[in-house]
Amino acid sequence: MAARGVGLLTRLPLHSQRRSRVQRSISSRHLSCPGTVAANFGSEEQPSGGAETGSEDKIPKKRFSEVQEERREQAQRTVLIHCPNNINEKKFLKYLSQHGPINNHFFYESFGLYAVVEFCQKDGVNSLQNGTHIPKQSTEPAIPFKSRFLNLKLKNSSNQIPEELHAQTNNQSPPSSKKLFELLNYAENIDDQLNTLLKAFQLTEENVRLRHLTCSLVEDIAAAYFPGCVVRPFGSSVNTFGKLGCDLDMFLDLDEIGKLDVHKNAGNFSTEFQMKTVPSERIATQKILSVIGECLDNFGPGCVGVQKILNARCPLVRFSHQASGFQCDLTTNNSIALKSSELLYIYGSLDTRVRALVFSVRCWARAHSLTSSIPGSWITNFSLTVMVIFFLQRRSPPILPTLDSLKSLADAQDRCILDGHNCTFVRDLYKIKPSGNTETLELLLKEFFEYFGNFAFNKNSINIRQGREQNKPDSSPLYIQNPFETSLNISKNVSQSQLQKFVDLARDSAWILEQEDKGQPSLSSKKPWGLATLLLPPGAVNTPLSKKKKKPVSEKVKGLLASIKSSTADSSKGTHGKNTISTQA
Ligand code: GTP
Ligand code: MG
Repeated sequence: MAARGVGLLTRLPLHSQRRSRVQRSISSRHLSCPGTVAANFGSEEQPSGGAETGSEDKIPKKRFSEVQEERREQAQRTVLIHCPNNINEKKFLKYLSQHGPINNHFFYESFGLYAVVEFCQKDGVNSLQNGTHIPKQSTEPAIPFKSRFLNLKLKNSSNQIPEELHAQTNNQSPPSSKKLFELLNYAENIDDQLNTLLKAFQLTEENVRLRHLTCSLVEDIAAAYFPGCVVRPFGSSVNTFGKLGCDLDMFLDLDEIGKLDVHKNAGNFSTEFQMKTVPSERIATQKILSVIGECLDNFGPGCVGVQKILNARCPLVRFSHQASGFQCDLTTNNSIALKSSELLYIYGSLDTRVRALVFSVRCWARAHSLTSSIPGSWITNFSLTVMVIFFLQRRSPPILPTLDSLKSLADAQDRCILDGHNCTFVRDLYKIKPSGNTETLELLLKEFFEYFGNFAFNKNSINIRQGREQNKPDSSPLYIQNPFETSLNISKNVSQSQLQKFVDLARDSAWILEQEDKGQPSLSSKKPWGLATLLLPPGAVNTPLSKKKKKPVSEKVKGLLASIKSSTADSSKGTHGKNTISTQA
């Protein structure tokens, strides 16, 4: 199969447009296009499993593979267009509709104005590409690579367009600290705060589409070398735990190529491809990623800052996709990580409390610099998510089932062995019985901090396969068993001092929640309360020396605490606006 795509090379200078400070309201229009999966876009029911974008009221029941297939197909019918700033939305749609009916579209800003346009059929994309020309040679020569990332030019740019006809943009960024602080203060109780934080940070429908489109554009480039390959997103972009601004993990799946083979067995002969061989799987991976890295660097429109990190344990190509604003990590041979994403998707979809708790814990960890976007000896978001899952398996009654029990519900079609590891678990969400546990999020958050503030990390490991603590097989400070490659520790990188910091902060946070007047906000006060207090930077809240072992709070101590609290309230009056909540991934 030939590389898909007809189009032109676009060069967008990094500095060309500053991000607009004024956030305009969301504009995600859709034109009716019966028969397509996305026809319901914007309606209450998410077309492809709401868990990706998340509504805490609805539990999606679609299988992970179904959701991914729908999203992939949708992305293949979609183009990304860099537009002039003062574009008239109506005329824009009329112009594009010449090529075929449009299912939906939205605009967003990221150093310029961009439109994501989904046609009802792939023919629409083909027609648009056929009508697109290679740009005339300007000062810098361009490499004529044709993709689905286009530039829209205004033939007559002098026409002034009234403000109300300008395209409205969709926000792709998480809320500012100040905004989040306000949102949390307005919440009714701590449960409401956790759900508010989830809503504010979870990936939006548009952001999910843009992630799948970015993978699809990279796939077009990779397919020039490996026709039939698939580039699949994994990690937090698809596992229901993605925060706005999180990276885009993708992997090049070359196994699909073999599946295209048509075996004609008639006659006495069969044919196979002549192929080069290399000494090891790792070398093959490095060679493939090296060449794809070169392609992205040389021909990938909008792909900048390409780094080939081929000597890592898991070799990867890292780059920025300028137009979408995503930091991308491309790997290959990573089907176990995709399976982990599917497992997390199931856990995130089983109970509405799971994602709310994970988002709060992740924001809390980020606010206190327990996590970082730079690799190091700190705990990762993936490990934190597994810790929350483990904690929820330990409740009575359990809120989440163990991986072993998910395996016991699996049928023959669910069976999955990857690189000799048994990755089998039930994939049909309807087969998993909902939990009878009715604990509130407030209680769960407090108990999470208590539980891990007092966990015997020195001797026990965390194991979501069995849902119970086990003796640590080695002396790593934090041992979280890899769910599938069971001899590996996913938190091997975590140092003793980082673990101690986590434990101290967890104890402090449990203490703070205990002191909150049973979660009742004082509506008259602008002082942070509940979850907001936990997200304040260290030093902004008075906490006990976390090294001291926590004891039941006596009446005398309670009085003392109350006086400290009121003096904190006084001293913070008029200064709360200076408090920042740093929660960005
Ligand atoms: P954020 O990017 O921080 O939002 O979360 P993430 O879950 O996407 O984490 P990350 O980008 O670091 O890794 C992407 C995926 O790779 C994870 O979701 C896991 O499936 C997998 N992964 C990450 N770290 C490990 C690890 O230490 N061991 C294993 N087995 N898989 C990992
Ligand atoms: Mg990630």
